[in-house]
Parts: sequence; C-alpha cells; structure tokens
Amino acid sequence: MDGFAPVPRHIAFIMDGNGRWAQNRGLPRVSGHVQGAKTFRAIGNACLDRNIEVITFFAFSTENWKRPKAEIAGILKLLDLYLKDWFKEERAAHTRIHFLGDTSVFSAKERALIEKAQTTGTEIKNHLNIALNYGGRADITQAANAVLKRRFATGDDSPITEEELALHLSTQGMPDVDLLIRTGSEMRISNFLLWQSAYAELYFSDVLWPDFSEKDLDEAIRAYQTRNRRFGGLNDPGGKEPTVS
Ligand code: IPE
Ligand code: IPE
Ligand code: MG
Repeated sequence: MDGFAPVPRHIAFIMDGNGRWAQNRGLPRVSGHVQGAKTFRAIGNACLDRNIEVITFFAFSTENWKRPKAEIAGILKLLDLYLKDWFKEERAAHTRIHFLGDTSVFSAKERALIEKAQTTGTEIKNHLNIALNYGGRADITQAANAVLKRRFATGDDSPITEEELALHLSTQGMPDVDLLIRTGSEMRISNFLLWQSAYAELYFSDVLWPDFSEKDLDEAIRAYQTRNRRFGGLNDPGGKEPTVS
C-alpha cells in the first residue's frame, strides 16, 4: 500500500452479487448470503486493520422487502449471528457499531440485540455502520422531519441549513463517504447514502461480493489514492487565468 497518499476516512460498501454467486454454483440464494456474511466480517476487519475511521455496509435496503420472505429471514438471521459473535471480538473494544435505517420495524428481540451492539466499546477509534432497512431518500426525509419537529417546538422559522440537516441524518456528523465501492458489476447507487456520497469517489468492481478479497480492497484503495479530488475547485487555484476575449 502507498505509504504517502492518505487512506479514505470513510469507505462505504454496496455488497452486491450474493444471489448470483450462489446461482452460478447451482445453490440457493441464501447460501450466497451465508458466504457474503463471511466476506462482510473479513472485509470489515481488514478495514479496521487499515485504520479506516468509518466503514458503512449496505446490508438491507428499504426496497429489499420486495424479496421472498425466506430470503429476507435468511439475511436477518445472518445479521443476528454476526452481532452475537461481535461481542466476543477483541475489536469491539474500540469499534462502535451503528445501525443506519429504520430499525423500529424489527421484533423486540432483534431490537434489543441491535441496541446492545451499539453500546459496546470504551475507547472508540473506529465506527462500523450497518445500513439495515436503509434508504437514502428515507434518511433525508427523516432528517427533514426531525428538524421540522424542532422548528415547531421552538417556533424557530429560520431556514434549514445543510449542516443542520446533516446532523440529523443517520450518520450524524460522521465524515462524508470518501470511497464508495460496489461489487457485482452494477453501476448504480440503489438509494444508498445519497447525501453523504455527494463527493464520494465511486469504484465499481465486477467481483461478486462473496469473492471480494483483501487484495480487491487494497486495489480499490489504491485506485482511490490516484484520484484527483477537486470538489468543484481547481488543481492549481493559483494558476494563471485564461484570457476571455
Ligand atoms: C446483495 O446481493 C445482498 C443484498 C441485497 C442483501 P444480492 O442478493 O442482491 O445478489 P444479486 O444481485 O441478486 O446477485
Ligand atoms: C443494493 O443491492 C442493496 C444492498 C446491497 C443491501 P440490490 O441488489 O438490492 O440493488 P438493485 O436492486 O440491483 O438496484
Ligand atoms: Mg443485487
């Protein structure tokens, strides 16, 4: 890894391709999710080893409820197992899990586990976000509603600022996404962190998520390090202005 170019502060993953991975092997889609969950654990740990401050994984979207009940149950069960194992992880001491999305729809038992997972750690160095029942539009809408509620309560009629709205998003003041990685060949955002990815560098990989390796992660980080991030500015702001005639 390049020792000089900075690593991204925030990497977000759209973990896509579990179903195709299983279908390619003649297996049921759920076994793709089982393998995908192993990759999720391995890549999460690899990011922590690389000192990535914030990592966000898209685990289940607000649109994924359209899938068969058995597949949904399979995905949620895997998350359950992941969280139960998480408490045994040494990394939990300095990594804080956050759930992004509307978790109020889950059962009391599931919510208790989600709550507990978000309280582990004493000396927090890293943040691991799990986007569950998450949609970028829903996130922005709930943030707007939260601000509106405060406006009504206080009678404040000042215009909403971007900073204020951002503080009410599920990512609550975390740094914006620097690098957004999507596996599985599709080149779309699928309603993921819409606001937070405004200036993210996009990286699309043909690798199906269950096959995504540490080597692939390093390749994505290396590609990020070669990008020229201008944020609407110029490479050489002190450069000579061209003459407009
Ligand atoms: C992504 O893999 C995982 C979730 C959406 C939970 P898919 O299940 O979408 O896999 P493909 O895209 O059908 O291959
Ligand atoms: C995005 O993948 C959601 C997750 C990875 C959780 P999808 O497979 O649901 O996205 P589309 O349907 O191809 O856009
Ligand atoms: Mg998919």
